[in-house]
Amino acid sequence: MGTTSELERTAREMLADGRGLLAADESTGTITKRFDAHGIESTEENRRRYRELLFTTGGIEHDLGGIILYDETVRQSTSEGTPMVSLLGQRGIVPGIKVDKGAKDLAGFPGEKVTEGLDGLRERFGEYRELGLRFAKWRTVTDVDDERPTPTGIHVNAHVQARYAALAQEAGLVPIVEPESIMDGDHGIDRSAEVTEAVLQAVFDQLLRQRVALEGVVLKTNMVVSGYAGSDQAGPDEVAERTLQVLHRVVPPAVPGIVFLSGGQDDAQATANLDAIQRAGAQPWIVSFSYARALQGQAMATWGGNEDDVEAAQRVFRHRTRMTGLANRGQWTPEAEQEHTAGV
Ligand code: G3H
Repeated sequence: MGTTSELERTAREMLADGRGLLAADESTGTITKRFDAHGIESTEENRRRYRELLFTTGGIEHDLGGIILYDETVRQSTSEGTPMVSLLGQRGIVPGIKVDKGAKDLAGFPGEKVTEGLDGLRERFGEYRELGLRFAKWRTVTDVDDERPTPTGIHVNAHVQARYAALAQEAGLVPIVEPESIMDGDHGIDRSAEVTEAVLQAVFDQLLRQRVALEGVVLKTNMVVSGYAGSDQAGPDEVAERTLQVLHRVVPPAVPGIVFLSGGQDDAQATANLDAIQRAGAQPWIVSFSYARALQGQAMATWGGNEDDVEAAQRVFRHRTRMTGLANRGQWTPEAEQEHTAGV
């Protein structure tokens, strides 16, 4: 059983010194889709080689305080025989684990999802703790349009987030609570703000009702942006203002950290929007990033499964982590991007 102060220490350590998180926790199904797009065969060995490429990239510990892993990866080692989890620990990067089993159709509510994976979770947490993992992640998914989400869709996902978070804390792992409102639709930024606020409000209500210690939780959320299919796209200053307005309304200051997912934003948007949020000044919580696609996309394309391209892919990955780290400290500029791109 973890104490609240231990959990809070871990949460703050993951995000200390302007660092953020890499989400490298794609399930086998998801990484297969990503590999397919680059003609990479999704074998267990290729997935291991790819994760080794990322985790052994020089200098990433300057910008990454934690990495979220998938179950397969925590049982794998580098080609030199070092377990991936130990490798991260040696580099001063806190290892974590995605524990949900994915979003499934919510019966009776067409077009809405609920995330599964609670059965046996207490036992799985016991094993993950033994394996040296120190935090966890559970993602729920909310699609947005004029009709969705329904109050029930919001409620069941908030409830399951709190069930998971309570079990994580019981095992001494910091729960990253990730209720993602999907930004793929054609809704405007007002609808995005409205849904994000309702979803987060329900999540914090459930966390409190289910006696989760907010001091030992990290929130992972979408930024409030315009739906990607909409004609009118808000720029970084508006995204920063609307995102922070929602967070100020509903996230208690007891929460040590909030991290953003990239959610399909391209690298430039994910970097510029994060930079604008950080330039808005100090907040009651540590604010940071936890990106998958916006950190890995170019590196995966550069690697393409070829041993000869490992070093080039690592340079690209280091570049993206460095730029995101600059943005996370409110120090990113287009000029910095150009300068460093020239050096890649
Ligand atoms: O669960 C989603 C990932 O942790 C974040 O992925 O940055 O590609 O949205 P993303």
